Amino acid sequence: MHQAGELEPIRWQDESLLLLDQTLLPAQERWFPVVNVDEAIEAIRTMRVRGAPAIGVAAAYALAAHAARLPDAPLPRWLDTLSAEAARLAAARPTAVNLAWAVERALQTARGTGSVGEARERLLALAHRLREQDIATNRAIGAAGAGLLPEHGGVLTHCNTGALATAGYGTALGVIRAAWEAGRDISVFCTETRPWLQGARLTAYELVRLGIPARLLADSAAGVLMAQSAVHAVVVGADRIAANGDTANKVGTYTLAVLAHAHGIPFYVAAPMSTVDPATPTGEAIVIEERPADEVTHVGGRRIAAEGIGVRNPAFDVTPARLISAIITERGVLRAPYPAAIAAAIAAASPAQGVSA
Ligand code: MRU
Repeated sequence: MHQAGELEPIRWQDESLLLLDQTLLPAQERWFPVVNVDEAIEAIRTMRVRGAPAIGVAAAYALAAHAARLPDAPLPRWLDTLSAEAARLAAARPTAVNLAWAVERALQTARGTGSVGEARERLLALAHRLREQDIATNRAIGAAGAGLLPEHGGVLTHCNTGALATAGYGTALGVIRAAWEAGRDISVFCTETRPWLQGARLTAYELVRLGIPARLLADSAAGVLMAQSAVHAVVVGADRIAANGDTANKVGTYTLAVLAHAHGIPFYVAAPMSTVDPATPTGEAIVIEERPADEVTHVGGRRIAAEGIGVRNPAFDVTPARLISAIITERGVLRAPYPAAIAAAIAAASPAQGVSA
């Protein structure tokens, strides 16, 4: 039985959201305050907070902080002002559905109140609840998925899906952690995850901190390790899961799914039900965020690419459902055919458990 210390990157202190700056990790652990929507948008766009569940919870706290400072006005006018700000916040990153989902939950909560004071209180209570629910949900995902990982063997993961990408514990990394804590003899391969290096900077940091045996790979090394039979399962997170199971996640995930399929290796997606978007019928309808060119042409602020070269920088890709062996959620392990399994999981969950139905 292995045990590990906790890392919870989203806090509330002195009427402010406190975020652990993920652009500085692992070199520095620095917290910074967010007190309004503009600061939250900046933090989300610049990746100081990232990971689908984390940006959802951070957005709920940011709206609570903003509401606490929004001058008093008659309730309908106050709500109109808050809604306009919330719409800007929801658009800060387009692919992860958790952001829009959390903002919508906050607006519904505020609209259901009878005074500005009550709205402020309930917004903060909601943010606390989403944070606590996210941690509990991730532990449930871990418990549901741990048994899918090998008793002995290599598990490959991509990007960062750990405590840092959530309110705590993590999704795909939570499954790995739960398997390790249950005594499974696993060894993790984490991909660097160019261009932001979430794997090298964040997942490696979390794995070392947790004491889980792990090795870092260049993204392009995944194929050779699979060909050498070193990888026995792949587990990744998700930014949006369509109603048919097609899954958007960090760019490179689709490549790994194709490779896993070619080598007969199980490929698992681990995500909370709040990442399932029943309003998105298939992966084709998912908006893929394109990020600035300098993220590809530069490393650590230093130009590495030839001046004048064009760049494509999609931040996510879509893995078709047919390449996914199972989707691990807090409602259990979903298997193909996904449209029916997803619909049943949505129907089974109460609104309080956070399903975006
Ligand atoms: O661009 P990022 O770092 O926000 O992308 C993160 C991912 O793609 C994660 O895999 C996903 O959000 C799931 S996090 C539990």
